[in-house]
Amino acid sequence: MSIEMEVHTSTAHEVLRTYEPQVLVFDKPDEVDRHAAGMFIEQVLTLPTSVLTLPTGRTPEGMYRYIRNAQKRGLRLDEVNVFNLDEYWPLPKKHPASYASYMDRNLVGVPPDRRHIPNSEAPDPHLEAARYENELNRFPVNLAILGIGPGRTCHIGFNERGSDLNSRTRCVRLDPETVKANARDFPYLLHMPLNAITQGVGNILQAKAIILLAKGNNKAIGISEMLRGDIGPDSPASYLRMHPNVTVILDGEAASLL
Ligand code: F6R
Repeated sequence: MSIEMEVHTSTAHEVLRTYEPQVLVFDKPDEVDRHAAGMFIEQVLTLPTSVLTLPTGRTPEGMYRYIRNAQKRGLRLDEVNVFNLDEYWPLPKKHPASYASYMDRNLVGVPPDRRHIPNSEAPDPHLEAARYENELNRFPVNLAILGIGPGRTCHIGFNERGSDLNSRTRCVRLDPETVKANARDFPYLLHMPLNAITQGVGNILQAKAIILLAKGNNKAIGISEMLRGDIGPDSPASYLRMHPNVTVILDGEAASLL
């Protein structure tokens, strides 16, 4: 169902078309993982050359585990193209907390030339963001899978509060709440990058279909803001309500404020 709604962008309040995402709530986090993996697998079986935008973080680890199990039973990922949503900058690619190493650990079987991720070692992050934007624009994305930021950040990719509806791939400063949540991946806080290169909201919304995954209490406020709050830069995930094909997959804790 679509409705007309006032949408706040950084430059204007406009009346734009909005949609109700499909919301699926499962009792257990593992069911979220299994369902998300099922949708990923269905996409790849339907179109082996699918272009996929993919997240990192704690939330999708279980989904990737299910995908690897399916690969043991014959699922092939050698024709897909995978674009990561984001990457820290600057950071050695081999650092265990880089999203490049996360993908090495979590998603196997995609040929190296079909894996796309911003270069965390690039000397100039703005040039690197422009390069990634150009690369992304060559591949229409069939399915984007996202997580949502912790607490009130409501970020998608690293589009933190203040991000515009039409934002494109760029270098951003991380929200202090994001830094606090992700510092667990860096044994010494001093070494944690405070910047990242992220696909913009505008890039994400160009995907044909979008899935957002959330598990745990720390996602409840963000999910409620995303689905029930105003659409605008105070909760970047709320922009997903401007896309006609969004599925939100939650566990009971993440859905607890709906
Ligand atoms: C990571 C990304 C972020 C995460 C979000 C949730 O590639 O795009 O938006 O999805 O920060 O992270 P977790 O799942 O660790 O809570």
